[in-house]
Amino acid sequence: MLIREFKRPDLKRVLEIESSSFDDPYPANVLVDLYNLGAGFLVAQQDNIIVGYIIFWIRFEDEGHIISIAVDPHHHRKKIGSRLVETTLEIFKKYNVDKIQLEVRKGNRKARKFYQRLGFEEKTLVINYYEDGEDAMIMEKILENLENSYNPE
Ligand SMILES: CC(C)(COP(=O)(O)OP(=O)(O)OC[C@H]1O[C@@H](n2cnc3c(N)ncnc32)[C@H](O)[C@@H]1OP(=O)(O)O)[C@@H](O)C(=O)NCCC(=O)NCCS
Repeated sequence: MLIREFKRPDLKRVLEIESSSFDDPYPANVLVDLYNLGAGFLVAQQDNIIVGYIIFWIRFEDEGHIISIAVDPHHHRKKIGSRLVETTLEIFKKYNVDKIQLEVRKGNRKARKFYQRLGFEEKTLVINYYEDGEDAMIMEKILENLENSYNPE
C-alpha cells in the first residue's frame, strides 16, 4: 500500500469514500477549499485504487489538527487508517508540532477506539458541537519530539 499526497484526479474516489463513511459528508467544495488553503491531504492507494484519505493542518503554529479521515468500508481493519495517521504524525514532527487534537462524534465508538489505539487521549466533551446537536469528544496526543525535549543541563 502506498501513502502519497492527494492530487485533483483523486477527488472523485475521495468523495465516494467520504459519502460511504459519514451521514454528513463534506461536500466537494469544502475538500477542494481545504486543499487550496494548504491543508495536508494524503491518500492511501492500493492496486492503483484510492482506499482512504486523511486531511490535517497546523494551527496556532505548533498544534496539529486532524480534520478528517476515512477508509473505504470494504478495507476496514487492515491498518490503512493507522498508516494514514502515522504518516501524518511523521509530517507533524518535521514541523515541530508537539500536540495534536481532533474532534470525534461522541457516538462514533469505532473511531474513538481507533484513535485511542494510536495513543490519543479523550480530553473534553463539547456539548452540542455538531449541527445535528451531537456532542464532540476532543482527543489529544502529545508527540515526543526529541529536538524539543533536548535539555543540555
Ligand atoms: C476510523 C477508521 C478510519 C479506522 O480505519 P481502519 O483502517 O479500519 O483502522 P485500522 O485497521 O488502522 O485499526 C487500528 C485499530 O483501531 C481499532 N479499531 C479500528 N476500527 C475499529 C472498530 N470498528 N471497532 C473497534 N476498534 C476499532 C482497533 O484497535 C484496530 O486494531 P485491530 O484491528 O488490530 O483490533 C475507519 O473505521 C473509518 O473510515 N470510519 C468511518 C469514518 C470515521 O469515523 N472517521 C473518523 C471520524 S473523526
